[in-house]
Amino acid sequence: MCGIVGYIGEKEKRDFLLGGLKELEYRGYDSAGIAVLKEGEISSFKATGKLSNLVSKTEDFSSEGFGIGIGHTRWATHGKPTEANAHPHWGQFSYVIHNGIIENYKEIKEQFLPHIPFLSQTDTEVIVHLFEYFVNESTSGFEAFEKTVAHLHGAYAILLITQKEPDVIFFAKNAVPLILGRNNTGEIFFGSSDAPLIGFAKEVSYLEDGQYGFAKANVVSLFENKIAQNLHYKPLTHDKLFAQKDGYRYFMEKEIYEQSSVVTETLMGRIKGNEVVLDELAGMDVTGFNAIKICACGTSYHAGLAASYLFERLSKVRCSVEIASEFRYKEPLLDPKTLFIVISQSGETADTLEALKMAQKSGMPTLAICNVDNSSIVRTADATLLTRAGIEKGVASTKAFATQMMTLWLLSLYVGHHRNAIGTEKMNEEMKALLHIPLVLKVDEAIHEKLHRLSKRYLHGHGFFFIGRDIFFPLALEGALKLKEISYLHAEGYPAGEMKHGPIALADSELFTIALMPRTLLYDKIKSNVQELSARDSTLLVISPEPFELSDDFIQTHAHTHPMAEFFEMMVITQLLALEISIRLGNDVDMPRNLAKSVTVE
Ligand code: F6R
Repeated sequence: MCGIVGYIGEKEKRDFLLGGLKELEYRGYDSAGIAVLKEGEISSFKATGKLSNLVSKTEDFSSEGFGIGIGHTRWATHGKPTEANAHPHWGQFSYVIHNGIIENYKEIKEQFLPHIPFLSQTDTEVIVHLFEYFVNESTSGFEAFEKTVAHLHGAYAILLITQKEPDVIFFAKNAVPLILGRNNTGEIFFGSSDAPLIGFAKEVSYLEDGQYGFAKANVVSLFENKIAQNLHYKPLTHDKLFAQKDGYRYFMEKEIYEQSSVVTETLMGRIKGNEVVLDELAGMDVTGFNAIKICACGTSYHAGLAASYLFERLSKVRCSVEIASEFRYKEPLLDPKTLFIVISQSGETADTLEALKMAQKSGMPTLAICNVDNSSIVRTADATLLTRAGIEKGVASTKAFATQMMTLWLLSLYVGHHRNAIGTEKMNEEMKALLHIPLVLKVDEAIHEKLHRLSKRYLHGHGFFFIGRDIFFPLALEGALKLKEISYLHAEGYPAGEMKHGPIALADSELFTIALMPRTLLYDKIKSNVQELSARDSTLLVISPEPFELSDDFIQTHAHTHPMAEFFEMMVITQLLALEISIRLGNDVDMPRNLAKSVTVE
């Protein structure tokens, strides 16, 4: 989720690069850097924290006249957000910036670069050293770059500059966006999105996965599998906010559509063969505790609740879940033999942070599942697994939840494996299902369109019940929370089997029931719960792969064979339902009333 910019031309490069990075700030950052190559001389600056720190650092730097430059804002995934880990990374004569994850960076280090002293803890730094390694055995910079790219596994948008060819930017793209722009004065621009290029480039080309090449003033050469490709340019929009949203109406919508790619990042480097590898937990003995306690707020609490089913089922460890604000004052009995897990998107939620400190004081081992490196929670916990969702702009959490769930699922398998709780066959099955999730999360446009049409029926009435059983109960809670937050309609999540113990008294045609009916878990049980509601005239929206004759509305999901695939598909549907209802009601989807993105007070 980092941001990239690049420039070739006469302009003041500092201004273009910093201005471009400012436009990419919405993607998140914890540090930033630029490098400019002019008349053979490279100048490079880096700073941690806000972009303004880099602006101050470069105040006296001027770079007018022909030259090239690259700039980067970083969202830490490998290594802390320090200046050493900020991009650009350099070798002896070359500088690189990169967005994505190089999965085989350790293997590259071992095979090609065993004697190179690395300055950072990043995966990115291998790119520049590998390039310089190949320069020695190549006839051109491009040949060395092509060899470098051929050795990289993972996701990347890369810009590389070298003093050996001081008027060239080498570039490569795979699985993360990279856009190239041009105008009629010969200038060339690069960006992770359109936004930094607006007002500068006249037309842009959206590079495809597997493409790479080099650019000079007026000249761009593009390749794929060593074969030259044509560049296809399109005129560039003039609307910056529209560009930041990648054409979606709201950031929340964009973030729902992004879920497939961000969970791919969550998984990167964490699966080797049929094993979950979590380097971040190398110092933690996962066989040494008797139970797990999870603590969190809001959506993160729902992820925790869902994960408790996974920890008991897959890891065979007792697991309890607490709302952080309740936990703090209940004088909890804390056992140093229990692993204490906190989940937080922002890493700054006051209640969760205080709960973490209490657990630590009592001697419990602590683990944070978090999206923001160097946040207060990450700095406090003994160990952290980063969820890698990138910044989330929509106040209602979507992709953060999806990545939390993936991280927790990975963790439950990791713990299960180390405690010998999972047999090989079961593990193979889980791995297969896990790797299928990015595909499951691709939004089905037909379903989105159907939800758009359906949403007009669900604007009034006296309330919503989202119901589900097992792991679909926390998903029902999350679906109801999404709807509440952005539509301001009353919605509750409830365990389907519990409806007859009270809430069914509310059932009439003005009560909307959203029923999550997976085929892989307790289908017949929930079916009878839903029949009971239908008999009391509740209006029913059923989400299921199995057609249900009593439903008023029906969204048919795919016939997955694993409950987690059904879980993730239904998650997307409930998010889109909330989005469409909110849009119809004319609400501000991204900034709902009374809510804040980071809750740093009690
Ligand atoms: C809901 C939402 C909130 C947060 C909660 C905890 O869409 O975003 O419920 O989940 O405030 O925040 P974090 O995860 O930052 O600790």
